[in-house]
Amino acid sequence: MTKWPDGTTRMGFDVTEFDTLRAETLAEIGEADLAALEDIRVRALGKSGAITALLKTLGGMTPDERQAKGPQIHGLREAVTNAIAARKAALEAAALEARLATEWLDMTLPVSAGRLGGVHPVSQVMDELAEIFADLGFAVASGPEIEDDWHNFSALNIPETHPARAMHDTFYFPDDKTVDGKRMLLRTHTSPVQIRTMTKQKPPIRIIAPGRVYRSDSDATHTPMFHQIEGLVIDRGIHMGHLKWTLETFLKAFFERDDIVLRLRPSYFPFTEPSAEVDVGYSREKGRRVIGGSEGWMEVLGCGMVHRRVIENCGLDPDEYQGFAFGTGVDRLAMLKYGMDDLRAFFDGDLRWLKHYGFRALDVPTLSGGIGA
Ligand code: DAH
Repeated sequence: MTKWPDGTTRMGFDVTEFDTLRAETLAEIGEADLAALEDIRVRALGKSGAITALLKTLGGMTPDERQAKGPQIHGLREAVTNAIAARKAALEAAALEARLATEWLDMTLPVSAGRLGGVHPVSQVMDELAEIFADLGFAVASGPEIEDDWHNFSALNIPETHPARAMHDTFYFPDDKTVDGKRMLLRTHTSPVQIRTMTKQKPPIRIIAPGRVYRSDSDATHTPMFHQIEGLVIDRGIHMGHLKWTLETFLKAFFERDDIVLRLRPSYFPFTEPSAEVDVGYSREKGRRVIGGSEGWMEVLGCGMVHRRVIENCGLDPDEYQGFAFGTGVDRLAMLKYGMDDLRAFFDGDLRWLKHYGFRALDVPTLSGGIGA
C-alpha cells in the first residue's frame, strides 16, 4: 500500500499513478514555504513516505521488473530530493534578501552632528595630549583608580609619617575593606602609574598616563574627582635637558604657539630629586590673560628627575637607569586653553555648558590638522 502526498492510499504501482505522484509532488514543492517543504519531505521520503514505500516494492519484484522500474523509482527519489533542496535554498536566499532590504543603511548619508552629542573638554584635551605625546614616542598607560597605599604613597618615597600624605586629603576605604591585607584608597594622583609601569615593563620607558584622581576637596578650582596626566621616561643617561625639551615641545604643541616661555622653579616632590615646578609666561590681550610672552607667570605642572629610591623600589638599578617624570591637571590645562573659569561646571552635566564648551564629535585632534578645535 502506498501513501500518496495527498493523504489517500492507493494499491499497487502503475505507470500513470507513478507519473501523477511525480508531477503532484514536484508541483507541491514548487509552491511550498519552508514549513510545508519539510512536511512534503516527510510524506515523500520519510520512513513511511510514498517514495520510500515505492523503494520497498523493489524487493518483491522479479529481476526484469526491477530492471525496468528501479531506475524510475530511484530517479523519482533523486528528482524530489533535488527539488526540495533547490526550493529550500531559494526560499532561504529570498528570506535573507528581504531581511537585508529592511535592515538597509546608507553609510554615505551625511551624519547629523547634533545627534552625536559633543566631546567634553576633558576628553578633548586628553585626546590632544595623547596625540602630542604619541608623536614624541610615548605610549598611553593606565592604572586602577582604587589603589593600595604602597603604589600611591610608599613606593613613591612618601612613607607613612610623611607630611605629604596629609596634604593629599586622601579618601581611604574603611579598615575592614582591605584587599590581600592591603589598605585601599582612591588614588590621589596619577603617579602610582609610574610604579605600575616600572614594575612590569623593562626600560626604555616612555609613557603618559591620563586619568581620574580623587581628593577630599571642593571649591571653584577643586572638585573631589578631577583629572591628571602623568609623564614618565626611564632610560640610560636621561638628564634634565631631556625633561625641559620635552615639556617645551609639549606646551608649544598644546597651546599652539611658538612664543611659549617656560620657567623652572626649584620645588619639592618626594618622588623626584631634583624637583621643579614649571610656570608658563602669559601676556594680557584686551584685559585677558593669554598664554605666551612673559608679562606674568602661571604654574602649569610639577616635574623632576625620578628619585633613585623610587627606581630602586621598582626593582631597577638607579646607577644604570635614570629618568624624568611630570604631572599636571588635565582640567586645569583645559581651563587655561579654552577659557572656562569654574572647575565645578566641568562635572555638573549641564547641557547648555556642554553645548557651549564641547567639541564636535567628528573633529579628531591631529598634529597635521590642528590640535585644538
Ligand atoms: N603627583 C603630583 C601631584 O599630584 C604631581 C607631580 C609632580 C607628578 C611632580 C610628577 C612629578 O610626576 O614629577 O601633585
